[in-house]
Amino acid sequence: MTTIKKITAQQRLDSRGNPTVQVQVETKDGFFRALVPSGASTGAHEAVELRDGKARDAATKGIDTKAYFGKGVMTAVGNVNEILGPALVKSGLDVTTQLKDIDKAMIDLDGTPNKARLGANAILGVSMACARAGAAARGVPLYEYLRRECGTESDPYVLPVPFFNVLNGGVHAGNTLAFQEFMLAPTGASSFEEAIQIGSEAYHSLKNVIAKKHGMPATSIGDEGGFAPPLTRPEEAFDLLTEAVKEIGGSDRVQFGLDPASTEFFDAEKREYDLGFKDKQPSKLSPDGLAQLYHHLAKNYPLALLEDPFAEDDWASWTAFTESCRNIPLEIVGDDLLVTNVERVREAVSKKACNSMLLKINQIGSVTEAIAAAQLAFSNGWAVFASHRSGETTDDFLSDLTVALNTGHLKAGAPARGERVAKYNRLLDIEAELKAKGQRVVYAGANFGRRGKAANE
Ligand code: PGA
Ligand code: ZN
Repeated sequence: MTTIKKITAQQRLDSRGNPTVQVQVETKDGFFRALVPSGASTGAHEAVELRDGKARDAATKGIDTKAYFGKGVMTAVGNVNEILGPALVKSGLDVTTQLKDIDKAMIDLDGTPNKARLGANAILGVSMACARAGAAARGVPLYEYLRRECGTESDPYVLPVPFFNVLNGGVHAGNTLAFQEFMLAPTGASSFEEAIQIGSEAYHSLKNVIAKKHGMPATSIGDEGGFAPPLTRPEEAFDLLTEAVKEIGGSDRVQFGLDPASTEFFDAEKREYDLGFKDKQPSKLSPDGLAQLYHHLAKNYPLALLEDPFAEDDWASWTAFTESCRNIPLEIVGDDLLVTNVERVREAVSKKACNSMLLKINQIGSVTEAIAAAQLAFSNGWAVFASHRSGETTDDFLSDLTVALNTGHLKAGAPARGERVAKYNRLLDIEAELKAKGQRVVYAGANFGRRGKAANE
């Protein structure tokens, strides 16, 4: 039995230089920390990330609501220090076995359906730090602790295929590229370690290809560490990727992933998608026109995964598109559509809207709720794609959770920048540690999305 002695929170910075919540949990074993990530192309149905500029009671608590242009998180920090922390200490809950009860206690204290009162950023930080404290109490690595939470203890250890976001557009970059993420996935590697090497080499080769075509100034980068050259059309982006992968002789070992993050350029009233939304030139497509563009891309490039092809509430387009992909081996991932929320997953299952769930723990705001959403997705034959946020920290919790859930694939940005490589480096550590222990370790490879059988097969 290991109870919580004290919980404190602090305001720290994320990779975009914006404030975020850090939580520290104290038990008899020591101090355990977590840092909370934050999105830019956030879904409207996500749990609420409390920012001081918008927090109702911030000013009355004497918090400077203008600090950091309103992005301060001192309200959430105060909620940990004054409400969540004292309540959990008093509860006597055991971090070793009661993570679900700890999360439930915080959800009840919040009392809203979307964590609007205490903040998903406050609750998630506590949840993550408690999991770390629980792992230490049990004397096991975090992924082992989480395997028990996920009920995967008898599964083989699966190392995920890393989807490297090497070209950034959308709201993550200053170019006129509408689509947000162009990813390289070394599905033909034989180990996670080899996948990292392929990703890194392709990233550097891509830099050379871009410099040759567009000049050195075009090799500046976006929020997730990928390059952000002055491109507009998605074909230009995929052509660059194709050339970069060819240069390193990796064409037969690498597939592509695409996240247009289309909610960002959807006009709900007109039911139109504007691919020129960052440009002076509008470039509007109907949902049908956009679906045709995706089919064209899937035909001409080795596209294995497509995330958020349509906007978060454009259900009809999702369902029609998933049906049209019945005979194509394409993973169709719901991000803003599902927001790691069991209610949204249920709705998408009944509407046959997609065949995979993106897993972002801060969309729902606690570790065990995110696990429940993943389990629901798996039980419906879907895949689960684990994900970081565009605003990240050096926290590597995501890597342990990905292994524990056996998701088979994750995205954590480019194979560059500290907050991105923290996740990849942790996975390298896990792979090496398991091998050193003599454990059988499987690299998911071409089966990256097959723990659940895809719904459209
Ligand atoms: P976000 O982007 O973290 O800015 O929401 C990531 C994504 O859309 O997958
Ligand atoms: Zn997305």
